[in-house]
Parts: sequence; C-alpha cells; structure tokens
Amino acid sequence: MTNKLIAFEGIDGSGKSTQIKKLAEKIKGNGEDVYTTFEPTDNYIGKLIRDVFSYRYEASQETIAGLFVADRLDHLLHPEHGMLKMLETKHVLTDRYYFSSYAYHGVHVDMTWVMEANRMAVSKGKADLHIFIDVNPEICLKRIHNNRTHIEMYETLDNLIRVRNQYLLAFDQMKDRENIMMVDGNRSADEIAEEIWSLFKNME
Ligand code: ADP
Ligand code: TYD
Repeated sequence: MTNKLIAFEGIDGSGKSTQIKKLAEKIKGNGEDVYTTFEPTDNYIGKLIRDVFSYRYEASQETIAGLFVADRLDHLLHPEHGMLKMLETKHVLTDRYYFSSYAYHGVHVDMTWVMEANRMAVSKGKADLHIFIDVNPEICLKRIHNNRTHIEMYETLDNLIRVRNQYLLAFDQMKDRENIMMVDGNRSADEIAEEIWSLFKNME
C-alpha cells in the first residue's frame, strides 16, 4: 500500500486521539511505519493559537481562522517534520485537518471564505481519507468535563452542536471531492477501532 494521509475529525471529546493511538498500534503491528500528529501543532504558530485560546492575546475570528491556515501549511510543508516529508517514508495520521477549520470557523465566518483560505493546503496535501467520529454532543461534553486538558473556548453544548452541524454541512458540500467516512462514535473505543481498522485495510 502507498503511504496514506488520514485525518481524524470530530467535535471536542469525540475520541479522535484515542482512535489514532489504536490505529497506529494496529498499523505497526501489521509491520508498517506510521507518524501521528495533530492540529493546532505545538510549533510556533500552533503556540500562538493556544495563546489566543487562553486569552493571552486577543484576536478576531477571521484572524484565528488565518492562523490555523498558517499553522496547517507549516504542519504540511516544514522541510524536516512536515507531513509531506513524513509521507515519503510512512503513513501519517493527523488529529484534525482542514475540515476542522471548515466546521469551527464556519460557525463564525463565511465557510466559503474558510474553504478558499485553505485551498493551498488542500491542493498540496489532500487527505486520502477523512474519518469523522460522530458522537452525541452531550456525551462529548461529559467526557470533556472529566478530562480537563482541553482548550475551553469552544466547549459549550450549544457550540458543540453548532460545530457538528457545520461539519455535516461541509461534508455534504465536499462529498464529491473528498473521501469522507462517518463512524458511529457512540460505542466502545474497541468497537470503533475495529471499524476504522477495516476502513484502513480497504484503502488501495
Ligand atoms: P478527542 O481527541 O477527540 O478530544 P479523546 O480521545 O481525548 O478525544 O477522548 C476524550 C475522552 O473520552 C477521554 O477521556 C477518553 O478516554 C474518552 N473516550 C474516548 N473514546 C471513548 C469511547 N468510545 N467511549 C467512552 N469514552 C471514550
Ligand atoms: P485541542 O485541545 O487540541 O482539542 P481536541 O483534543 O478536541 O482536538 O484543541 C483544539 C481546538 O482547536 C478544538 O476546539 C478545535 C479547534 N480548531 C479550530 O478551531 N480550527 C482548526 O482548524 C483546528 C485544527 C482546530
């Protein structure tokens, strides 16, 4: 199999990082190499985003969307640790990618503009597969409250519902151009992992 770029998407607390860990283990167990990563990154621009989220620096929603575009291009194109570089030798699993921008910023600013702003990332690094882990927002909120390592700006029930709806809108709009798989995330982590493993194995 050629190396794949797979993006995990879902509202906060939907189990993306849990599933990335499980898929990476299965891929390694199968004798292939894999790199796991996430957005916002922990590089310079990602850190700036975290400063905005923790109210150390105030920025407009448009500016935040722009910072994510810059962080994503760095994540993709960095000559040493960029995802394109990693893809030369291994599979890449990313916790969030451009559909996160469509969903999270599409709530605040025109989603078409967000899509246009992300065009360079899409053309240079289109994901082979986007896996959307769909979990009831009320369940996510409960999980988030039991696990306080998360960024708080977007974590109210109303917002999780709005972001989920925006994801669905973006998937519908892009369904002919992108490979999107929806997975029912209201199940045990192992059941979800089995389904994701068979999605992976079915990729060419
Ligand atoms: P995300 O990366 O999408 O924010 P996490 O993988 O960190 O989500 O999961 C959020 C919380 O929910 C964690 O405490 C995790 O252990 C728990 N969790 C993940 N998947 C499930 C699941 N299928 N059922 C119940 N709890 C889960
Ligand atoms: P993080 O703590 O990494 O949350 P999670 O584990 O749920 O991914 O925070 C990431 C936050 O950033 C999350 O609320 C979604 C948001 N986000 C955007 O608003 N736009 C984006 O383009 C991306 C990638 C993330």
